[in-house]
Amino acid sequence: MITKLFRNAAVFTPEDGGKPRAGPDQGRIRAVPKGALLCRNGRVAALGPEKDVLKALHADDVDLEVDLEGRCVLPGFVDPHTHLCFVETREQEFSLRLQGVEYLEILRRGGGILSTVRSVRKSDEETLFRATRERVLRALRFGTTTLEIKSGYGLETPTELKMLRVIRRIGRETPLDVVATFMGAHAVPEEYRNRTDDYVDAIVRDMIPEVARQGIARFCDVFCEQGVFSVAQSRRILRAALAAGLGAKIHADEVHDLGGAALAAEIGALSAEHLLAASEASLKAMAQAGTIGVVLPATAYSLRKPFAKARTMIELGVPVALATDGNPGSSYTESMPFVFGLAVLSMGLSVEEALTAATLNAAYAIATADRVGSLDVGKQADFLVLEGETPAVVPYHAGANPVAAVYKKGELCFG
Ligand code: NIG
Ligand code: FE
Repeated sequence: MITKLFRNAAVFTPEDGGKPRAGPDQGRIRAVPKGALLCRNGRVAALGPEKDVLKALHADDVDLEVDLEGRCVLPGFVDPHTHLCFVETREQEFSLRLQGVEYLEILRRGGGILSTVRSVRKSDEETLFRATRERVLRALRFGTTTLEIKSGYGLETPTELKMLRVIRRIGRETPLDVVATFMGAHAVPEEYRNRTDDYVDAIVRDMIPEVARQGIARFCDVFCEQGVFSVAQSRRILRAALAAGLGAKIHADEVHDLGGAALAAEIGALSAEHLLAASEASLKAMAQAGTIGVVLPATAYSLRKPFAKARTMIELGVPVALATDGNPGSSYTESMPFVFGLAVLSMGLSVEEALTAATLNAAYAIATADRVGSLDVGKQADFLVLEGETPAVVPYHAGANPVAAVYKKGELCFG
């Protein structure tokens, strides 16, 4: 048994009450000012005021003692929505967007997601793995210890499976916990142009059954958007996914208010994500159904669109989670501190609400809260040491990396 004691720490963590935290509970955080965190075999064995933890401990029980000199300790960030499995970036397209060409217009012209599809189809598996690993390790240095990665740059069975194998390998060969989401419904591939229903048939008939048979993804996601997949098509795909044993997620109301958020509530999806244009009626339906709202402020920032109404979500009782959406088109970032800062300074969340959104609620959004997302006893000792005294340093020290050290299952993996 390996026992490690981290003392002289200012610990801030949401507490796991068995469900995502919503409404006034979203901002309730446990603060332990002169705290100690005791880890045994990579799990949290105790957290409390230093004197209490020390009293319950024999000095010779401890294999390693670390004095954190009053610095802030948080649970590792959980990033529940990324598309980090790709090869080439899209700087040219970014320049076009800066000139005023709309994101969906670029997709209509055969660029955007479809240009990443062309390069991912051509890429060999090793190259795709290395490119993905580089980004995931960058996320780790910014404090992400668990993340979700979506497929969706294959849009044909073999390439979707290639991506999902790479994503699985990232989970095995990096310190991070990785959750895979199948997103064959990310765009309509060129060979199905103007035949979206035929492509939906292929997803439902061939792709979902094969992904489920291989047990290689935990969730299925759909881009429900004007010119991509309609609400009816999204419903069909997600129902098939649920029937095959996958969880349901949806890119909902990112650009237009199609009713994707309401669909999430209707079918019992775990989460609806983006929500920039979601109506209040849809948000109410989500609150009723307990659907988690995953907000992605770096996407609004990069697309220069108004942010999702996260304050309204919290007031309505929607549990809010925060993610990067890391992808080569609409949000090229791996940084949870960056989106944390946007959530506080541009979306009006309190630091405490943003902390819950970036940890516990994010863990619920990818069904990992049984082991990560908070520093409750028994969970994995995944935590961050910040260069600062409170979590407010994350939005405060803008543009810098406030993460001084990252521990995964009690092991130092950055810092
Ligand atoms: O979440 N909206 C669709 N998917 C991503 C963008 C992916 C891309 O542009 O490559 C998003 O914004
Ligand atoms: Fe996305």
